[in-house]
Amino acid sequence: MDKADKIREFDNATMAETTTPDMGIPFESCLIEGTPDPCMVVIVGASGDLTARKIVPALFNLFLNGGLPSPFFVFGCARTNLSNQEFRDKMKNPLKATNILDDQKWQDFSKSLYYQAIDYGELSSFRSLARSLRELDKKQGTGWNRVLYLAIPPSLYKSTAQMLGKAGLSVESEKKSGWARIVVEKPFGHDLDTAIDLDRSLHEHFQEHQIFRIDHYLAKETVQNILMFRFANSIFEPIWNRRYIDHVSITAAETLGVEHRAGYYEQAGVLRDMFQNHMMQLLALTAMDPPSLFEADRVRDEKVKVYRTIRPFPTADLKGYLVLGQYGAGALDGKRVPAYRDEPGIDPESLTPTFAMMKVFLDNWRWQGVPFYLTSGKRLAKKLTEIVVQFKEVPHSMFRQTLGEHITANRLSLGIYPDEKISLTFQTKNPGAKVCLRSVTMDFHYHQNYTGPILDAYEKVLLDCMLGDQMLFWRQDGVELCWSFLTPILSACESCGDRREMLLPYDSGTWGPKAVSDLKE
Ligand code: BG6
Repeated sequence: MDKADKIREFDNATMAETTTPDMGIPFESCLIEGTPDPCMVVIVGASGDLTARKIVPALFNLFLNGGLPSPFFVFGCARTNLSNQEFRDKMKNPLKATNILDDQKWQDFSKSLYYQAIDYGELSSFRSLARSLRELDKKQGTGWNRVLYLAIPPSLYKSTAQMLGKAGLSVESEKKSGWARIVVEKPFGHDLDTAIDLDRSLHEHFQEHQIFRIDHYLAKETVQNILMFRFANSIFEPIWNRRYIDHVSITAAETLGVEHRAGYYEQAGVLRDMFQNHMMQLLALTAMDPPSLFEADRVRDEKVKVYRTIRPFPTADLKGYLVLGQYGAGALDGKRVPAYRDEPGIDPESLTPTFAMMKVFLDNWRWQGVPFYLTSGKRLAKKLTEIVVQFKEVPHSMFRQTLGEHITANRLSLGIYPDEKISLTFQTKNPGAKVCLRSVTMDFHYHQNYTGPILDAYEKVLLDCMLGDQMLFWRQDGVELCWSFLTPILSACESCGDRREMLLPYDSGTWGPKAVSDLKE
């Protein structure tokens, strides 16, 4: 069929159905991209929570969906002494509460799980690990391809990466086979200096193409969809700028409290925990220019350009740009929940913020003068992640005699969680003889007409890592630019005399401190 026939067919179809035919790509062919090389996934810190709750379930689900290479094995290591069988049983437990556990399939998968205890401070221990991996690699035929996943506390990243390097595990062969990739979880540093220092340490043994800095938000389907929505359609880009957009709100609200992470969270607070990574990524995806090609470095180049344009906050007067809060006791889902300061392991005098709202400006032609409100907090009224683009009102209302000057402006909402949907609100005529408007919403649900399986964020990052695709991972220049923006703010907040006054209390189960509305004025 030539191009003219295709256009004719398309026109006929649209006339008949008044809907646009889709591109006819079968769901199954979109689930898994490419087949990774045979490889091993080495999890350092495998006795911890992250391995059992996220990494192994993700690998198991990839196995169920045919996304793992063959041969393949997982090698866990941590301080705890466990036999292979004990490790397998430990990994099976959290799956019992899911609907993916099929005993037979688990039997098949769990044969590829191995374990060895290590001492993080002993090079001899890492050398022994390297020997075990070599042996297993030879036996299984995994081509000495390694993903080295650091599922350990951030304080151990530097020393562990060094040990892995010294034990020879970072060395890549010149040939295609024999690659080594290290996966580093957030937080990547505690501020700009520590992020630079961590990167320097990693680079002593690993090259940039070997380093995968995870941000699980980037692997969420609906987050990935932002670029498709913006750049696979021609109708949004012309209005995606200061001429038409009044402001943008990016929200990541949680109902969860600090949980069992007091030690980490007391040091991090919401700015390091959510803003330095996830919120900055959502900002970049919303604000960036289209890259010339959907390819890791070109996409990351455009994100970095956004970070370069962030206007620094006047640290002497943060109040016009930043609201910080800390949750008090309250009610959520009908249950009483304690104040942050009464949570186990938290200092009763703690000044750690669990909520922040920022007003960010980007100094470039596209966004000059458009505020981006970034909000994230724990123990808020609802778990909600969304980006709302608020358009300007019509420049002139021809209905002013009957409706007055004010007509509600259009609003586009990109729902990330729990509503995975895109909604556009616009005005229509209310039926009847009188001139009345009503706001209506056009919704697209992300899984509409889709019945296939879904990959969760960890499945996607693990798969991309095995494939060597860094698109959804942070590049160091982005990390440093975000820290450059946040570090002066953190220093000002953490060292200023009115630190206590800056931290506004809010009741659990509400939408945060009342002062957030002042920021929006
Ligand atoms: C993590 C933070 O990175 O993201 C947590 O450390 C937070 O504090 C979590 O709860 C939120 O992720 P999600 O995917 O549930 O929105």
